[in-house]
Amino acid sequence: MIGNVGNGLWKVLVALIAVSAVIGAADMSPQLAPVDESPPTPELALLMGDLQRLTHKLALSADAGNAELAAFYLHESQEQLRKIQSEAPEYENIPVALLIDRLAHPAFAPMQEAVTAKDVKRMREGMNAIVQACNACHTATQHAFIRITPGTEVNPFNQSFAP
Ligand code: HEC
Repeated sequence: MIGNVGNGLWKVLVALIAVSAVIGAADMSPQLAPVDESPPTPELALLMGDLQRLTHKLALSADAGNAELAAFYLHESQEQLRKIQSEAPEYENIPVALLIDRLAHPAFAPMQEAVTAKDVKRMREGMNAIVQACNACHTATQHAFIRITPGTEVNPFNQSFAP
């Protein structure tokens, strides 16, 4: 009799443990497996921040007349533009990839020629054209309050841009 009661209690306990494990698993499941299947939207501002750093270094190199370093940052800036086009082709209804094709890439072309010719005057002019393109796109996308400048008055980096 005692043995039977003990056996019965044991079964109830096992059943309770099993049920609570199932409830526990059900409670845990939303945390364990995020069900969001849409690809995460890359943060355009972060991609733009990288572009800003690269073009700022391009400007400092061009201003210092360092064609070799300017060529490096020109290439990196153009790669970043292509990265933005593939990772955020459209952002909050802004046709980012299209605008980069129309406004940014053409503005970088004269800089390529100036760097190849190692022409300091044309490198500086080329940089002004790039900065204008940044701001033209910010204006076109309701972000005119983000105003880019060549930023060559001070070198904020622990890096020399001298040739
Ligand atoms: C497609 C047009 C377009 C072009 C071309 C463009 N931008 Fe932007 N930029 C944007 C948009 C749109 C935002 C706002 C992003 C957001 O809302 O998250 C932005 C944001 C920024 C920001 C704010 C993020 C931060 O880190 O402070 C900076 C800086 C910036 N851009 C720099 C530049 C520079 C430098 C260039 C040129 C080399 C450039 N942008 C070219 C559209 C553009």
